Amino acid sequence: MNMKRRTIVALPGDGIGRVVLEETIRLLGHAGFEADYVEGDIGWEFWKREGNPLPDRTIDLLEKHKIGLFGAITSKPKDAAFQELDPALKEKGLVYSSPIVGLRQHFNLDICIRPCKTYPGNPLNFIRRGAGNAIEEPEIDVVIFRQNTEGLYGGVEWSNPPDLVYQGLASHPKFVKNFGHVPKEELSVSTRIFTKKATERILRAAFEHARRYGYKSVTVCEKPNVIRETSGMMYKMAQEIQEADFPGTELWNTNIDAQMMWLTKNPENYGVIVAGNMFGDIVSDGFAGLIGGLGFACSANLGRDVSVFEPTHGSAPKYAGFPESIVNPIAMVESACMMLDHIGEPGISKKIRGSIARVILEGRVRTYDMMKMSGSADVIGKGAASTRQMTDTLIENL
Ligand code: IPM
Ligand code: MN
Repeated sequence: MNMKRRTIVALPGDGIGRVVLEETIRLLGHAGFEADYVEGDIGWEFWKREGNPLPDRTIDLLEKHKIGLFGAITSKPKDAAFQELDPALKEKGLVYSSPIVGLRQHFNLDICIRPCKTYPGNPLNFIRRGAGNAIEEPEIDVVIFRQNTEGLYGGVEWSNPPDLVYQGLASHPKFVKNFGHVPKEELSVSTRIFTKKATERILRAAFEHARRYGYKSVTVCEKPNVIRETSGMMYKMAQEIQEADFPGTELWNTNIDAQMMWLTKNPENYGVIVAGNMFGDIVSDGFAGLIGGLGFACSANLGRDVSVFEPTHGSAPKYAGFPESIVNPIAMVESACMMLDHIGEPGISKKIRGSIARVILEGRVRTYDMMKMSGSADVIGKGAASTRQMTDTLIENL
């Protein structure tokens, strides 16, 4: 028996983040998960009011309690963000940056896991034409391991780079050849830095997951034929790790562009996929689209110490003001299931996933996305379940 009552940091964020999180917490209670929740401030509100979408007090809460359940946040480009800042803060030279990326960096949540698994009966499942024009609905069970802190998200970038950086770049013959004639003021540079340590951690996490859950293959999804240093290092390390420690798991290598094409051709062939930050972001959205889209896409951001679980959908500001929320809570509920697995409550997550499977298969209660409606306040009048009704149904089926 687990005697210690847990405290979970609830991070609603913006827009529909709050409703999906609150409904998920309600369901967790019914499923028998006993915990206390403390709310952490995060998101657009706090950017506008305080000039910081990720206040220190929120960092402290996570530092203390270690586990976060995160709803969604609104992110806007630099200039739009500045416009909305409290006028009293406008002189301070503040620059908006995404608080979820900030959380991943601050706590070194370097391992991002994004499962994409078909629920039988989901009307949003991918279908294709097979031989003889037959319609096929392949069962997909893919888990993406995304390196979550480095690469193009490392934040090391400049427009009009400082002299030292410019000189460094100019020491590379390819820079001289391809960009040497461009005035410095006309250059923008974003770096893609990979470290051996983080690359090894994400690769090992992927291989271990494949072995533990019986996936046949780990696919490195990068572009080593062009991006020779970073992608090249990742693939080479994957070969070494596979040979030394995971001989029972096949290692496959695909390029991100080809993978995006193949994933609608033969998605059932893939098992575990591992990629750097940006390509992991891309390929995880690609596979999520085959299993129901944003209403079903869940994720875990795991560090050594702190972990944060979140649906990968955004805050859907257009839907946030509806009198009754219409969004599909399943992605958030699934993210909470990943949290339960992580903290050693697999019995409860199994029960919840069983309920999701039943509700989807039965097909009586469906949110607007599952009914292929476009999102508007009147979908409920047309027979779509609200966020609350879907949660109620999941609770009844536990
Ligand atoms: C995701 C999102 C984020 C990302 C955004 C909101 C910064 O797309 O979690 O996949 O790019 O990582
Ligand atoms: Mn994304």
